[in-house]
Amino acid sequence: MKKVFNIFLTSCWVRIYHLWMFLVNFWKYYLKNPKFFLVDSCIFFQYFFKNPYGLIRRYDEAHPEEEPLGPYGETEFPVIEEILNRFHIPKSASFLDFGSGRGRMCFWLKIMRGQKKVTGVEKFVPFLEKAKKIKNLFSVDGVTFTDTFDIESHDVVYMYGSSWLDETVLKIAEKAAKLPKGTIIITTSYWLGDYLPDHFLLEDSFEVRFIWGKGSVYKQTVI
Ligand SMILES: C[S@@+](CC[C@H](N)C(=O)[O-])C[C@H]1O[C@@H](n2cnc3c(N)ncnc32)[C@H](O)[C@@H]1O
Repeated sequence: MKKVFNIFLTSCWVRIYHLWMFLVNFWKYYLKNPKFFLVDSCIFFQYFFKNPYGLIRRYDEAHPEEEPLGPYGETEFPVIEEILNRFHIPKSASFLDFGSGRGRMCFWLKIMRGQKKVTGVEKFVPFLEKAKKIKNLFSVDGVTFTDTFDIESHDVVYMYGSSWLDETVLKIAEKAAKLPKGTIIITTSYWLGDYLPDHFLLEDSFEVRFIWGKGSVYKQTVI
C-alpha cells in the first residue's frame, strides 16, 4: 500500500514538474523561437503514449545481460543554459552530448543557442531513430545523431548519466582521457578524476536542480 502511494506521489510530482517546465520553456524559449517550439512539441507528441522513462526502464528489465541505460532523465533547458554560462562555454565550441536521449538538449543547443556543431550519441535505438527523423523533418543543420560509442574529437563533451554503473563511467573515462588535451568534459554527480586519476583537471563545480533534486555538475579538462 505504501509503495503504491509513493508511486502515486512520484507520478503527481513528475506531472507538476513537467507542467511547470512547460510554462518556463514557453516563456523563455518557445515564444522567442517558433521553430524550436515546433521541434520540441513534435518530440513531445512522438512520446505522448510512450513515456521515455518507462521505455528505458522496460528495456533494461528485458535485457539484464546488458549494461543498464537508465534511469532516464533530461537536463532542462534553463539548467543547461546555467551550466554553459557558469563554465564559459562559447557558442563556437563543438559539443557532444554523450547519451543524448530524445535529443531535446541537442536541438536546444543548435536552434536556441546557435551552437556551432552538435553531436548526440545515443545507444537506445528508438530514441536515436526518432531524433534523426525530427532533424530531417525540420531540416536542422549542424546536428548529428549517432550510436557510435567512440567519443570523437569535440571541444566539449557532456555526460548526464548520474546513475550509470561505475564500470560504464570508467569505460567512458578511459575514452575521454585519450581526447586532445584541453577538451572540456562536463559530468553530473561524479568527476572523472575519481575513476582515472592524473588524466583530468577539475576546473569548477556547482549545484543545479534536476527533476530528482539538487546535484553537482563538474567541469574538468583533459590533461
Ligand atoms: C540521463 S539520459 C540524458 C539525456 C540528455 N543527455 C539530457 O541531458 O537531457 C542518459 C541517456 O544516455 C543513454 N545511454 C546510456 N548508456 C549509454 C552508452 N553507453 N552510450 C550511449 N548512450 C547511452 C541512455 O539511453 C539515455 O538516453
